Amino acid sequence: MMRVDLSGKVALVTGVGDNVGFAWHIAKALQAAGARLVFACHPRLVGIVESIMERDADMDSRILPFGAGNLHVDKIFACDVSYDTLADVDAKTREDKRYSKHGDFSIEGMVNNLKSSGFNAVDILIHSVAFSPEIKNKLADTTRSAYRTSLDISSYSMIGLLKALDPMMANLPGGASAVGLTYLGGERVVPHYGGAMSTAKAALQMDAKVLASNLGPKGIRVNLVSAGPYASRAARAIGDIDEMIKHAADRSPLQRGIEADEVGYATAFLCSPLASAITGQILYVDCGYNVIGV
Ligand SMILES: NC(=O)c1ccc[n+]([C@@H]2O[C@H](COP(=O)([O-])OP(=O)(O)OC[C@H]3O[C@@H](n4cnc5c(N)ncnc54)[C@H](O)[C@@H]3O)[C@@H](O)[C@H]2O)c1
Repeated sequence: MMRVDLSGKVALVTGVGDNVGFAWHIAKALQAAGARLVFACHPRLVGIVESIMERDADMDSRILPFGAGNLHVDKIFACDVSYDTLADVDAKTREDKRYSKHGDFSIEGMVNNLKSSGFNAVDILIHSVAFSPEIKNKLADTTRSAYRTSLDISSYSMIGLLKALDPMMANLPGGASAVGLTYLGGERVVPHYGGAMSTAKAALQMDAKVLASNLGPKGIRVNLVSAGPYASRAARAIGDIDEMIKHAADRSPLQRGIEADEVGYATAFLCSPLASAITGQILYVDCGYNVIGV
């Protein structure tokens, strides 16, 4: 029987901050297909994620789909993807105990921690990170500083992570795969998707194509999943996510909203040998909403 098989693969998953967001469901799908997991979480959320991995109250959320057991993470590292190296960190953040208690929480530090924990290769990178400090501002009202931050964290970080992980992902026998998350708001105008998040997603979508071209010769595939609206913590910050979900559900060919697990399954497929000739693509997991004109 043909199935999605990721056994023997190591997946580095960014963007897990709770047991609701896409990264959590992607991690579960990857592990249900056999992958080992390492999380790179925002420094301020490491403790929360560690407790979700242990608490009885969160036991049900750790059950893997397809009867594959319970979620197990080999390591949880702190990583603020704003910083390539510790030298890039501003003094205020460096002195903040919520950050400094983790040692080197830059991308470089996280990759060094990975290596010193015995990981020699990363087969799968999940980029599930986005942030705009002014998500509620129209683009027309967005400050230069927020524009930069939005692109820095939501787009450039994919490049920064792939650069730092290149020695661990390049020329692996079965190839390697990076999957990022995007949204239709990166190519069409979605009211309320402000603070330059639309610009950040547009950049991410072009970057994924160029990165696929740059890294293809090293056997690294780069794809994006464009997910339909879903009520994660980040999406709730937009303000009217429930209305966005209802709007999309009412107009989608499948006449419903998406489940986060469906994003996980599509991502597992993209990371698997079944998708070995797929790179530089955007896979829409949105119940078909993107094809509708009016
Ligand atoms: N929820 C939606 O409707 C939707 C739709 C399409 C695409 N997406 C995308 O899915 C991805 C995941 O978002 P989500 O909706 O699951 O929300 P989420 O809040 O669960 O995930 C966003 C994550 O980004 C992390 N993050 C923010 N700044 C960071 C930084 N500087 N360093 C490290 N981590 C940082 C947060 O800690 C959080 O865990 C994002 O790229 C988002 O744009 C979301």
